[in-house]
Order: sequence, then structure tokens, then C-alpha cells
Amino acid sequence: MKNKIERIKEDVLDALKKIKNLEALDVFEFKYMSRKGEFAAVMKNIASLSSNEKREIGMTLNNTKRELLKSFEFIKKTLSLENTDSKFVDMTLLGEDRNKGSMHPITIIQNELESLFASMGFMVLDGPELESDFYNFEALNIPEYHPARDMQDTFYVNRGGEDSKTNLVMRTHTSPMQIRAMQKYGAPLRCVIPGRVFRNEAVDANHDSNFYQIEGLMIDKDISLANLLSVLKTMLSGIFKTDVKVRVRPGYFPFVEPGLEVDISCTVCSGNGCPSCKHSGWLEMIGAGMVHPNVLKHGGIDPEKYSGFAFGLGIDRLVMMRYEIDDIRLFHSGDLRFLKQF
Ligand code: FA5
Repeated sequence: MKNKIERIKEDVLDALKKIKNLEALDVFEFKYMSRKGEFAAVMKNIASLSSNEKREIGMTLNNTKRELLKSFEFIKKTLSLENTDSKFVDMTLLGEDRNKGSMHPITIIQNELESLFASMGFMVLDGPELESDFYNFEALNIPEYHPARDMQDTFYVNRGGEDSKTNLVMRTHTSPMQIRAMQKYGAPLRCVIPGRVFRNEAVDANHDSNFYQIEGLMIDKDISLANLLSVLKTMLSGIFKTDVKVRVRPGYFPFVEPGLEVDISCTVCSGNGCPSCKHSGWLEMIGAGMVHPNVLKHGGIDPEKYSGFAFGLGIDRLVMMRYEIDDIRLFHSGDLRFLKQF
């Protein structure tokens, strides 16, 4: 009897090793493990044994059965898993936890600005970051000899030619897009151009060498400073959702006449003075004015017929004031502790 049990065990283990799929396992289960299987038949014979033999054979049978069951369960689990991988996906299982990104605060505010201006009928345009000397300076009434070039020192890409006009520059502002937009669309015209600008700058809490601006341009008949101030006011109340203290003062830019600068009362220190506003209580936010007739001419628009306003807003500084961020350098720091707050 013991030999028979041993033989069945070897047969069973051999058969188990050869099984390659769940269907074959079913057949196997019926043949060996079911109530009609070979094992059950041996069990039935126990009844005719003496009580000593019953104990000994019973023990051997139980151990063998336990051993076989363990192997059987292992094979079943392995085959089920293989099956799961190829055919069945359990959607209720918990997935792997992944780090989610979030939008950069500059992107959030740029999107808000674009929607606000679009709602006022402005087109949203894009322009090149590597710009020609002509569009960045010359066409904006800043000839090569003009001291205003020093206001915006930048990174030049020398193309090797004798003539400086063939040089390319990393654009110092988004204003060159005024000319490109006028040349492409003519008058009347309403557009904004957000984008990255570059300057050779002494970096500090509110100056970076790589920052963002949004240019605004509106050209039509009888446009005045009143239109400019009204658009800027609508934009600022849309971004801050509450009244902010704004100061408008004369400013000089060769491509507008008259020119002005718009400052915002510093939200970091509530106007009391701090490093973010250079202890003045105000942060310079926007350069603006009425488009100079020479610039209109470069854009192919007749200054006798049309007038217009333009502005250039520093998006980084607007974001600083909106979220009360005290240092512009945080924007490009790559510090996740900062970025995860938005
Ligand atoms: C200009 O760049 C003009 N193109 C703006 C303009 C457009 C005037 C159209 C008239 C008509 P300005 O250099 O002041 O101007 O820069 C405009 C704004 O960009 C500033 O008010 C400020 O908000 C932001 N800005 C300027 N320099 C920096 C800097 N280094 N880092 C961060 N923001 C800056």
C-alpha cells in the first residue's frame, strides 16, 4: 500500500510539472484530486486495514496529500497570474502612486491674462525669442547710436557680418512684436503677445536676466491714453479680483510719446517697504504710452489716420504681487517646495 501511495505521488508530481495551462490543470484535478480520482480510490481501501496499519498508512496518505496539494496550489497560482497578465486587468487594484506636476505660477497668470485680453477682443500672438537688431531696436526708434540701447543690454548673436544690422539678439522685450503685428495685420489692430525676454541684468529680488512680458497693442482711429488706462484697469482688476493701489507716472521709452510707467503698491509689505520693492513701497510693473509715429510708419500704418497705445507688462512681477512672492529668483529655482504650492 505504501508503495502504491509513493507511485501515485510520483505520477502526480510528474503530471503536474508538465501542465502548461489552466485547462490542463482542470483535467489533472479531476484525474487525481477529485472524489473520483486515484487518491480517493486509495483512501477507500483504508477501511479494510487493521487499526495499526490504518494509523500508519493514514499518516503517510495525509502527508502525501498535503504535499501534493501545496504543489497543485502553487502551479494553479502561477498559471492564473500568467493568465491575468495577458488577458485580464483588475481595474479595482490600487495603482502605483505617481508624482503629479502642476502649472508654474507664471503659466497660470499668463493663461489668465490671455483669457482676459481675448474677452476684450485682443488677438493672442507669439513671436521669436531670437530677434533681429532691426525689430528689437531700430524699428522701435532706437538707432544704433542711441543711448536708450544701454537701458536694455542683452545677449548678441554675432553672425560674422560687418553690418551690425544683420546681428541677432535675444529679444530684450516683447515690443518688437508691435512692428511684426502691424506689418502682418495692418490697422485697426488689437493684440497681446506674451513671451520670454532676456537681458544682461544684475539679478536681485525683483530683477532676473530671463523673465516674461506681455505686450499689448491697440491701433484704431482716435485712440487715446484714456483707452490705455481703461484697458489696464480692467486687466488689473481681473487679475487681482480686488482693488489694488496703482500709481501712474511719466516714463521714457523711445517708441512711445507720451510714455508712462505704472507701479503697483507692493503686496508683500502692503506698501511699507521691503527688499522685494527696494524699500519704496511700489513695484514698477508696466511700461506704456501712445505709439510713436515713427513706429507706426515702420509698421506700415499711416500716423495721420491712426493712433494707438502700447504697453509692456512684466508677468513675473505681476505674479509676485498676486501671490505675495518676495523673490523673483524663486521662479527659476526649480525648488519643488515652492512649485508645489500652486
Ligand atoms: C520695456 O520693456 C518696454 N518694452 C515696455 C513698453 C512697451 C513701453 C510698450 C511702452 C510701450 P521696461 O524695461 O520698463 O520696458 O520693462 C517693462 C516691465 O518688464 C517692467 O515694468 C517690469 O515689470 C518688467 N521688467 C523689466 N526688467 C525686468 C527684470 N530684469 N526682471 C523682471 N522684470 C522686469
